[in-house]
Amino acid sequence: PVSPESPRSPESPRSEASAEPLTMRALREGGLRLKDRIIRGRPEAVERQHRLGKRTARERLESLLDENSFVEIEMYRRGTAPGRPYTDGVVAGSGTVYGRRVFVYAQDFTIAGGSLGAAHAAKIHKVMDLALATGCPIVALNDSGGARIQEGAMALDGYGGIFRRQVEASGVIPQISIVLGPCAGGAAYSPALADFTFMVRGTAQMYLTGPDVVESVTGERVTHAELGGADVHAERSGVASFVYDDEEGCLEDVRFLLSLLPGNNLEPAPVVPVAEEDDLRPALAEIVPVEASRPYDMREVIAEIVDDGEYLEVHERWAPNVLCGFGRLHGEVVGVVGNQPMVLAGVLDSTASQKAARFVRFCDSFGIPLVTLVDVPGFLPGTEQEHGGGIRHGAKLLYAYCEATVPRVQVIIRKAYGGAYIVMDSRSIGCDLSLAWPTNQVAVMGADAAVNVVHRRELAAAADPDGLRAELVARYTEELMHPYYAAERGLVDEVIDPGHTRAAVARGLAMLRGKRARAVARRHGNVPL
Ligand code: HXC
Repeated sequence: PVSPESPRSPESPRSEASAEPLTMRALREGGLRLKDRIIRGRPEAVERQHRLGKRTARERLESLLDENSFVEIEMYRRGTAPGRPYTDGVVAGSGTVYGRRVFVYAQDFTIAGGSLGAAHAAKIHKVMDLALATGCPIVALNDSGGARIQEGAMALDGYGGIFRRQVEASGVIPQISIVLGPCAGGAAYSPALADFTFMVRGTAQMYLTGPDVVESVTGERVTHAELGGADVHAERSGVASFVYDDEEGCLEDVRFLLSLLPGNNLEPAPVVPVAEEDDLRPALAEIVPVEASRPYDMREVIAEIVDDGEYLEVHERWAPNVLCGFGRLHGEVVGVVGNQPMVLAGVLDSTASQKAARFVRFCDSFGIPLVTLVDVPGFLPGTEQEHGGGIRHGAKLLYAYCEATVPRVQVIIRKAYGGAYIVMDSRSIGCDLSLAWPTNQVAVMGADAAVNVVHRRELAAAADPDGLRAELVARYTEELMHPYYAAERGLVDEVIDPGHTRAAVARGLAMLRGKRARAVARRHGNVPL
């Protein structure tokens, strides 16, 4: 047989076998050798990848997919990268995750820096088309120097084809983007268009223009990590929905997320069988202080409501004043949105509104019921918010809820004040079932603030303003903020014992199962962006 180093080095399975008599066995063996060489890759490039703290595209797919489930397409495709390497720098195909099919592509940094040329892009387009045609999620593993410089405009054309397909597939199949290396320039729009973006600290970078361009244009000196590392996107820009210390943990959570999502918008999310269990959760009454201004961790409340206390939080570190995540209730997937009194007293601000709006829209696209836990004192005041478009961003969340046709259950835990109450899936914007704890306070504003506004003149003239204020606050609370105020007016369906929350939400969702959406005769609404 011809060795790969021989001057007659094989360019195809046929020529690889050419030193042998033309037999089926020789052809088969030649083919296997070629395939093996493609799979192993160039040892020095693989070693360099490992030295950089990264794994190869195939190693990553092995961790992501069920064992031996990967079916590769177009392994032999060659483009114009120097040496015309097979695969053209991207490994594409499909496999299963917990037995359910997904389509995948993993950019291979060991080949031309994973840069994207026309052949590379065509392979990605193909798996995206197959994912959409078969109604399966698509998972992209990005590790690339961007547009293949030698291919000029054709590389840009290839990117455009990815973006167009992502938009076509939006709301039809779940799209997950994992950034495991460089992802620069326009390439960063692909993770931005995905439903969920995962990043790994240290190795993943995402930016529109790199540090050199930043310095030459603005004079600002910044490192890759400071400009577009995982922490920056997880905490400040909100581009990364999940962030990890290593690839293994990252891919494990991608598998977990996929186990919670339906394959497409026409399919229900996977249900897991659950044993009969006691839904009473007396601990809930202990977690939440009665005094409206005392903080507590809403995560503890969520853990008491969902099965096994297990909950996958999205955007954990971006806008932590609102919590969004997936859990199961009696084995069925729910999307939970909750104010977080531990951070900024749980107010809604621009970033929190954007975060929750995107989450609500995702759940609604894929038929995942929404459970909204309300403890909100209002919107964050200030010029920064107002000038930064707080109204516009808040409107996104309002729009997202108003438009959502999935089963919607609201639980008012304590404060539900003003516009923020309306936005947090109130009866008026279409929640199907509103439950409230005896600590609920549905009002235009808190009692202190209300008294200061309504009785300003009397307080200014009073001999004992503090005494009068206390009296007025007590009266306002008794008349307008008592636990049955909203229920008496039909804004709340039931005032429940906190310990019964899990049971009441589960009963509500069972009642709403099978809820149908009415088709709306318009091209699409003009969501405030
Ligand atoms: C062709 C590329 C490439 C590219 C890297 N390589 N990026 N080849 N086109 N865009 C090749 C290198 O030449 C090298 O080949 C190999 O990949 C590994 O790259 P290194 O530079 O040795 O790796 P490293 O030091 O880790 O640096 C990685 C990097 C750097 C930071 C990504 O390669 C880099 O800055 N590349 C250029 C990035 C860029 O400007 N891309 C275009 C952005 S514009 P050899 O043969 O030596 O192994 C864009 C527009 C998209 O993407 C628009 C979409 C709408």
